[in-house]
Amino acid sequence: MNYENIRSGILYGDVKVIGFESIDSTSSYLRRLLDSGEKGTVLAVADEQTAGRGRSGKSFYSPLSGGLYMSLLIHPEVGFDAVSSVTPKVCVAVSRAIEKVTGVSTQIKWVNDLYLSGKKVCGILCEAVNDYKNAVTKSIIIGVGINISTVEFPAQLQQLAGSLGVADDCREKLVSEITNSLLTLSFGELSADELSFYRERSCVIGNKINYFVNGQKNTAEAVGIDSSGGLIVENIHGERLTLTSGEISVRPC
Ligand code: BTN
Repeated sequence: MNYENIRSGILYGDVKVIGFESIDSTSSYLRRLLDSGEKGTVLAVADEQTAGRGRSGKSFYSPLSGGLYMSLLIHPEVGFDAVSSVTPKVCVAVSRAIEKVTGVSTQIKWVNDLYLSGKKVCGILCEAVNDYKNAVTKSIIIGVGINISTVEFPAQLQQLAGSLGVADDCREKLVSEITNSLLTLSFGELSADELSFYRERSCVIGNKINYFVNGQKNTAEAVGIDSSGGLIVENIHGERLTLTSGEISVRPC
């Protein structure tokens, strides 16, 4: 990737751009940078990750060709409530950026994945660094991994993972576009516009899902998304509850 092209496509603020041909994980790199005292906004981009990370300790397959792996370090200094909806906001921003740059319209699987034709093409991992004494989130590392043109996946991912199926040369533009939208992200509840995009693109709403509470599996129908990004589900008795985090399983989008 040409990091100068990425830099020149970023419209806002004073963003340090650091590129790697290969790194363990762009998010782990930014965490180390933060721990060593970094105070600025930093974008880390890599052609390959050797230890890409997903939610719940899962790995994220990040081969040398065909993918885009980026993480953005920001320092919002806002209350915990205000960042609770950051992941769905990022899903909306990334899905929109993908569509703008590539013309491909992805679907959103609550809470942090984008899908195309029933397969996961993008994973999002938002990690907050909190100051519990002052009850604020000091920093957030937003990690985004997109399979742009990856054709071959390891056997265990073949049924699950797919790619956008577009040429790799969109990667720099896509990184800049995503970065620009993440830099203008507002914190707090999803706006009416974000909510309607999320609902429109959700591949979960209207489906039967399984979710887990205290290790126990429950089944319900996903009926909506609330303004904090929580998933509203309804069980067979007509009782509703809102899931705010955790794993759900649902038939592919
Ligand atoms: C998931 O699938 O649960 C989230 C995957 C997030 C992957 C991205 S790739 C860039 C950044 N670096 C990582 O190690 N993870 C995120």
